[in-house]
Amino acid sequence: MNNFIFSYPTKVYFGRGCVREYLACLTRPYQTVMLAYGGGSVRKNGVYDEAAGILAAEGKTVVDFPGIMPNPTYRKVQEGAKLAREAGVDFILAVGGGSTIDCCKIVAAQAVQDADIWTMEMEKRDLPDHFLPMGAIVTVSGTGSEMNSGAVITHEEKKIKGGLMGAHSEFAMLDPAYTMSVPFRQVISGAFDTLSHAMETYFGKPQENNLSDDIGEAVMRSVIANMRALLADHESYNARSELMWASAMAENGILKIGKVTDFQCHQMEHQLGAYTDCNHGAGLAVLHPALYRRIYREGLPKFKRFAMAVWGIDPAGKSDEETAAAGVEALADFIREMGLPTSFHEMGIDAGTDFEAIANSTNITAGCCKKLTHEEILAIFNECR
Ligand code: NZQ
Ligand code: ZN
Repeated sequence: MNNFIFSYPTKVYFGRGCVREYLACLTRPYQTVMLAYGGGSVRKNGVYDEAAGILAAEGKTVVDFPGIMPNPTYRKVQEGAKLAREAGVDFILAVGGGSTIDCCKIVAAQAVQDADIWTMEMEKRDLPDHFLPMGAIVTVSGTGSEMNSGAVITHEEKKIKGGLMGAHSEFAMLDPAYTMSVPFRQVISGAFDTLSHAMETYFGKPQENNLSDDIGEAVMRSVIANMRALLADHESYNARSELMWASAMAENGILKIGKVTDFQCHQMEHQLGAYTDCNHGAGLAVLHPALYRRIYREGLPKFKRFAMAVWGIDPAGKSDEETAAAGVEALADFIREMGLPTSFHEMGIDAGTDFEAIANSTNITAGCCKKLTHEEILAIFNECR
């Protein structure tokens, strides 16, 4: 087993009513709270009023930071950091999904840092070590962003959607009832993102049997079963709860213990996002089958195991290659069954998009069973058009 260090700084409050029960006490040490959110869903579904009402009743000064867009931009991070400094914010409360939480993680770093955080992290390879404290109320699940300190931010001028390290949330509140207003399509694309996190960890190195992969298989089976349950009953609280916890489980580091993760598909999707501002889970759904059809022969034992343990493929009468290929096709069938897109065209991505530039700017990861070239990445993008 590879060496590892594991520690977990975020305290999780899960379940119906958790915000009402715990928010006041968790924010007690702070006075000026930045309430950060997206394009307005939380204003419509009452979550904003609930959180703001609790803070006001506790005598907090609430500083609103609205308008964090899906695929948050670096410009938005700078706007938030400036606001936090000017208003003397001493705590950031992110209320939303991966986009809002990611943006806040980097606001928390930039607000207490004179150096430009992008230059510091991406060019000087220097990581921030002090932050404004923050917490997260999750309103849409999938990314598991509330469980780690990584943030995916789009630098529009540089045309890079890249990972930065920011603050860990001190606490994460996950009330599945808050996700009931999330449109079905977004729930499904978020859940596919969770499945992708589990797959991209599972296919990372090493390939020998290990506990992390056993847990990963359980997470994948659960996500698939609960996506199917939700397809049958869009309002199922139980399925939405299970998906919310699976989302957290896939990104809290437990599945990654002792592993070098793959995340090649994520690197490709992130660059696609930098150029097209597309939906993250939908982009992954289009790319995964094309990527795996290209690489499964290089990781045959693991792809065979995936086929059998996750998709229930019977290996009897099949060669290892046939079993592994059947697992990849089961994944592709599942994507269709869920009504997820299967091409960039279906996602509404312009045919004139510069896929060569996207491919050439995609990071190549260390964990993948086959080290891709930029030409192969371009070929995959072209297959997905
Ligand atoms: O902006 P509002 O109006 O709030 O609407 C949002 C948004 O349009 C809506 N929404 C959120 N809660 C809702 C709701 N609508 C109705 N009812 C509610 N309760 O949902 C839409 C999507 O929200 P967003 O936060 O963008 O989605 P998601 O959580 O999928 O986050 C995507 C971002 O996270 C990054 C992605 O790349 C993308 O930028 N990721 C972050 C990761 C991390 N930090 O660990 C890992 C992931 O791999 C991913 O890359
Ligand atoms: Zn993801």
